[in-house]
Amino acid sequence: MKEFLKDKVFELISEAADEQQQECYVIGGFVRDIFLKRPSKDIDVVVVGSGIELAERVAKKLGKKAKITVFKNFGTAQVKLNELEVEFVGARKESYQRDSRKPIVENGTLEDDQNRRDFTINALALCLNKDRFGELIDPFGGLEDLKNFVIRTPLSPDITFSDDPLRMMRGIRFAAQLNFFLEINTFEAIERNKARIEIISKERIVDELNKIMQSRKPSVGFILLEKTGLLELIFPELLALKGAETKDGVGHKDNFYHTLAVLDNLCQHTDKLWLRWSALLHDIGKPRTKKFDSRLGWTFHNHNFVGEKMIPEIFRRMKLPTNEKMKYVQKMVTLHMRPIVLSEDEVTDSAIRRLLFDAGDDIDDLMKLCEADITSKNPDKVKKFRSNFQLVRQKLKEIEEKDRVRNFQPPVSGQEIMETFHLPASAIVGDIKMRIKDAILDGIIPNEYDAARVYMFKVAKELGLQ
Ligand code: CTP
Repeated sequence: MKEFLKDKVFELISEAADEQQQECYVIGGFVRDIFLKRPSKDIDVVVVGSGIELAERVAKKLGKKAKITVFKNFGTAQVKLNELEVEFVGARKESYQRDSRKPIVENGTLEDDQNRRDFTINALALCLNKDRFGELIDPFGGLEDLKNFVIRTPLSPDITFSDDPLRMMRGIRFAAQLNFFLEINTFEAIERNKARIEIISKERIVDELNKIMQSRKPSVGFILLEKTGLLELIFPELLALKGAETKDGVGHKDNFYHTLAVLDNLCQHTDKLWLRWSALLHDIGKPRTKKFDSRLGWTFHNHNFVGEKMIPEIFRRMKLPTNEKMKYVQKMVTLHMRPIVLSEDEVTDSAIRRLLFDAGDDIDDLMKLCEADITSKNPDKVKKFRSNFQLVRQKLKEIEEKDRVRNFQPPVSGQEIMETFHLPASAIVGDIKMRIKDAILDGIIPNEYDAARVYMFKVAKELGLQ
């Protein structure tokens, strides 16, 4: 394995460890990623001895370019060299208390250290001492598991997950990121231990969820979360989408699997995390709005607005950011049906202008979301939707070029209306402003100051102001 340890830093660590006469290994994600051919800049080094002492010696060898940070309380140290980050830690033996993630730590051997790691694929170690440089230590068959695409715990999974319940989420996250399978005992242990997720902070849970969201096919992660029972505990609103009911022979689609299909579709076209969240939440209001009507069948009236209103509560609870990112997701959820409805009807200029006005700079994202929302199994339907969308896109371009309403500000301000008609700030001012805006969006007048001012006088006259 020497060929993967070519970086000069490994040579220096090797020298330093030999000088201290201590066993030293590179371990964990870095070694796993060598075999997966994934680039990795975070290097974890375990030394059977003091991690801090080794880090100090290595930093000295690297000279001024290196920056060392010591975490005395944890017995670890980090050495940074350009983009490279090397974390040094003494091999540990850890045991956990049931109601806390804080371990009782003792010094240990490499074997102790490997035993306490989360998955076999993350417990691989490469020796750095000169006489064994590059030797692989793989006591749990991690390499075999990598070849077979398997996520499995090194010890009994009940122990591994009980030591740190976040690992249940990590296992599912690795399955999604790497497109691996959860080995059956590992899977069943998550089912058994799922309730322990409650001792984990929301921030760490959402961190894993975001990593699932950023994977190539997030549905893999969400289906595992659902099947193991974790989803019910961390994201009940999403689970509520599951199931397809039939009444009087009329069924509706399973909105959980539909949502995941939309998310996967979208992920082929964007890496934007918050656009991906918009896909995950686009139908979140459906369970609360579901009704059966003997004439219309199943309806989900206003599910987009109900969904939009549910989002702040979900974001707060999950510790997602409740700032402009949330507002963006809300906007996408509210508007997600507009282009579809548009493409079903005649595509009028006025409807296009209104869509551009409401979506602003996020119009392209919205169109991507709507196109991903086409999950029909009927190829004729799909074809029709796609060609209608093509038309909507073309019209959007034309209207934007002509009317510039994307980030439209009414050309006559409220101040000007007040001054012209000697009005105090009042509802009537807002009314005049809105009618000017509507006239522009409906194409009655162009998006220009002079036309807007003439129209302002016309409205004022109608309202008896002159
Ligand atoms: N680890 C663990 N249990 C955890 C977190 C980490 O056993 N709850 C161990 C694993 O051996 C892991 C290593 O610590 O490989 C480093 O953890 P981390 O940097 O969080 O993860 P990586 O495996 O490097 O993967 P990623 O960077 O994608 O999170």
